[in-house]
Amino acid sequence: MRQDTSMNAETGALRVPQSGTAQAAPEGDGVAIRGLGHAYGELQTIERLELEVEPHAVVGLVGPSGCGKSTLLELICGLREPSAGTIGVGGASSAPERLARCAYMPQRDLLLPWYSALDNAGLALRNQGRRKGAARAEAAELFGRFGLAGFEATAPAELSGGMRQRVAFLRTLLAGKPVLALDEPFAALDAITRAEMQEWLAGALRTDPRTVVLVTHDVEEALYLCDRVAVLSARPGRIIAELRAPDPRAEDRDAAVTDPAFVAVREEAMRALREGMR
Ligand SMILES: Nc1ncnc2c1ncn2[C@@H]1O[C@H](COP(=O)(O)OP(=O)(O)OP(=O)(O)O)[C@@H](O)[C@H]1O
Ligand SMILES: [Mg+2]
Repeated sequence: MRQDTSMNAETGALRVPQSGTAQAAPEGDGVAIRGLGHAYGELQTIERLELEVEPHAVVGLVGPSGCGKSTLLELICGLREPSAGTIGVGGASSAPERLARCAYMPQRDLLLPWYSALDNAGLALRNQGRRKGAARAEAAELFGRFGLAGFEATAPAELSGGMRQRVAFLRTLLAGKPVLALDEPFAALDAITRAEMQEWLAGALRTDPRTVVLVTHDVEEALYLCDRVAVLSARPGRIIAELRAPDPRAEDRDAAVTDPAFVAVREEAMRALREGMR
């Protein structure tokens, strides 16, 4: 099978390789969460949470700081176990099976300090058994698109926060998993780069759909990128509202977010957020 990791210049679609040694990623896994509860010792983080993410749907999570959003992503990805309820990813519910189906981009970039930017980006490919040269070549093809050209050999400590975040995002995409759990993927980016990355991700998901759970503090970003946005209450986190941006959304981000119907839903989401903080 031809190994092909390339960005389609016309569409921005991301073609992710399936290594011969890696498990082929199952197509279109959904996420089903029923009656979920979680606690860190005495601290109840999540309570009676229900969430359905259909295959290839993009669902946003917004909520007050500390309400359990990152914990919820870690639970979905099989990095933590619930204290109540069930989580299914593509019909599988054990933690190792969830982990195998999810690519997780943590809130902190967690790049390996002794690896170059390029080797950090290609880490998922290496973990799938790809040789160093092949992993580098495949990751390098996407560096330009992510505004990282020329920084291939740079160590994470010498990159800006936004660049580190882009390397981490690239690594997550290259993992080739059907479910992406993204924890504030664009938080460290300047406004212009952030808008560009949002537009790029929206385009890439249109042509190469994945199931996405996206945590963000930016309601506009959530509504622009997501099919649905779930608003969580203060801890213990529960879903208190689900909102949907009006369709069809303009492909141009500025046009989409200034549409009066979009602005009205954004206001509604802000009201729900304020309500949830009480
Ligand atoms: N490993 C841990 N051990 C104990 N408590 C934790 C741990 N991780 C997080 N917490 C606590 O659990 C709660 C939920 O944390 P979490 O990181 O999931 O919130 P969050 O919604 O992602 O917040 P933010 O928006 O600030 O990123 C917080 O009160 C946090 O202090
Ligand atoms: Mg968090």
